[in-house]
Order: sequence, then C-alpha cells, then structure tokens
Amino acid sequence: MTELLHPDTAGIARAADLLRGGGLVAFATETVYGLGADAGNARAVAAIFAAKERPHFNPLISHYPDAEAAFAHVEANTVARRLAEAFWPGPLTLVLPRRADCPVALLAGAGLETLAVRVPAHADARALLRAVGRPVVAPSANRSGAVSPTTAAHVLAGLSGRIDAVLDSGPCPVGVESTVLDPTGPRPRLLRPGGVTREAIVALVGKIARGMPPAAEAEHALSSPGMMASHYAPALPVRLKARGAAADEALLAFGPAPAGAGVVFQLSVSGDLAEAAANLFAGLRALDEEGDRRGLRRIAVMPVPEEGLGLAINDRLQRAAAPRDQERRH
Ligand code: TXA
Ligand code: MG
Repeated sequence: MTELLHPDTAGIARAADLLRGGGLVAFATETVYGLGADAGNARAVAAIFAAKERPHFNPLISHYPDAEAAFAHVEANTVARRLAEAFWPGPLTLVLPRRADCPVALLAGAGLETLAVRVPAHADARALLRAVGRPVVAPSANRSGAVSPTTAAHVLAGLSGRIDAVLDSGPCPVGVESTVLDPTGPRPRLLRPGGVTREAIVALVGKIARGMPPAAEAEHALSSPGMMASHYAPALPVRLKARGAAADEALLAFGPAPAGAGVVFQLSVSGDLAEAAANLFAGLRALDEEGDRRGLRRIAVMPVPEEGLGLAINDRLQRAAAPRDQERRH
C-alpha cells in the first residue's frame, strides 16, 4: 500500500527512512512531483523503472540539497558554476561528465558518461534531501508516456500501490519540468525547455544552441527517450493552434475562450504564462477525463506565445500532439 505522508517533521523523517531503506517515495519539487529513490542503490533505481514501466535506457536526474553536493559527483566548468549560482536552487538541470568516483548507480545514468544534476527549490524537497543525506534520483512520478503529475492525487492515479509513499505538498508552483542544459560545449545546449526561461539563460551566458548536435541525436534518442516526440501524451489526440473547439472537441484555452465552446479548461484567462504553466498538466488530465466521459474525440489547444515559459509549454504541447511513437507501447 502507498502511504500518504504530510510534509511535517514526522512525515519527512518517514519518507527519508523509506528512501534510505531502498523504497520509492514521490515528493513535490517546484516543477512537478518526482518519484525518488536512493541514487546509489541500483536495486531501488531499477524499482523506479518497474513502477513507471519506463524503458531502462532513459537516464534520470540526480537531486541534491546544494550545488556543492552536486558538483562533488560531476565535473563542473565555469559556465556550469555561473548557471548554478544564478539558478540554483531552482528548475534547472545540468548535464555534466560524471566524476570517476561518482557513487550514483550507473543504471540511473543509463550507462552514459554524463549525469544530470539538479538542486530543487521546493522547501519540502530540500528538507527531504537533507534528511536522506544522499542524492535522490527522481523522474517525474507518472507512468511512462503519461503527462507529469503536479498534485499528489495525480501521482496516486498512476502509481498507487506501486510505490511506498507520497509526500503531499499540494500543487507544484511551476508546473512544467526543469530546463535541461548541457553547458560543456562551445555554446551551452538547451536539451529540454523548462522552468528557467531561455531568455534568462541567454542573458547570463550569451547565445545557446538548441537540441542535440546531429551526430549525437540518433545515439541519444536511444539513451534518452524522454526527448522522443510523444513523451508527454494524454490519451485523447491533441490539435494545436486552435481558434475554437468543434462539437467533438474539448478546449484547452489560453486567454478568453471563444463563445460556444463546450468543455473548456482555462490555462490563464489573462494570458499569464506562469499561471498557464502551473495549470498545464492538470488541464490536460482534466480534459482527458471529461472528454472520455462525454465521448469527445480530441483536445483542441489555443495558441500560446513562443516566449518565456511559453517555450516549455509549447514543447510539452507539441509532444502531446505528436504521432504516437514506440514509447507508447511501454
Ligand atoms: O523538473 C524535473 O526535471 C523533474 C523533477 C522531478 O525534478 N524531473 C524530470 O525527470 O522531469 P524526467 O526523468 O521525467 O526527465 C529527465 C530528462 C529527460 O528528458 C532525460 O532524457 C534527460 O532529463 N536526461 C537525464 N539524464 C541525462 C543525460 N545524462 N544526458 C542527457 N539528458 C539527460
Ligand atoms: Mg518525465
């Protein structure tokens, strides 16, 4: 059975005990709920993949209470240190070469030479990481292929009975996953847009590249299916840049919804991107359920501007709308 814990002293102590004992505990970060395991315990890491039904070759992010702890496991260059100083704790993940003595299980990094590290800002996550006293690997706490959870109820909807506990800290304030950045090349490379905006990163380090270098792309697609097109898909098909909804569509609205739309979930009536990001995954889930109940065939999504957090929102929406690839079979 999955324990529902409150993030008070006793709840955090219980969650930390479970993690140190090799258990799986879902906890809130500022972005989405993560499914945590002791990063050094290969069996616990394997249990994450089993609970999520996630392909084994997808590498996980290792979470730390502070930058010093993170950089003890990976080799940080000057750019990485500047980024960490500016954005940690916060929704930024850095992909860096593992140190030779890095104790994080190789399985967690899917056998790659690099490790993704992050220092989350959520107070409960930081309290938990300090109480555990070890790094915690945590993918988003959803079944593979589903949208990421931003409440404890979302976590339980997918993983109840499959994990030891959920620490219920309420809704996640940012609502989209962390920005994943590789700062080792001549230009830092944006691997996944997320909670720290591209503009904020560019303002600090100058021009950045986007996506994988072509040669690495094919290889990486195998090792990192999180980058695959349809990773964040709801069950109903998704239609983007919709001006309104047809009779058989539910509408994900951004700004005032057109008159006559039936089933509507409002991301932000005022067009606020931070509010929209925080509501995004809950909205996709709600429309999926309501659409299913009413026999609707599709989710229509109003356009979201490609700036600030809109980059991460549009990235997740494009994945939700992409043709379903192999990962859907896992
Ligand atoms: O906000 C977040 O990042 C959340 C919270 C829980 O921290 N975690 C999360 O984890 O979104 P996950 O596993 O759902 O996504 C991790 C992403 C994937 O796109 C994965 O491919 C990429 O990070 N990644 C992890 N390790 C990597 C590595 N060594 N090289 C390149 N990409 C990596
Ligand atoms: Mg995920």
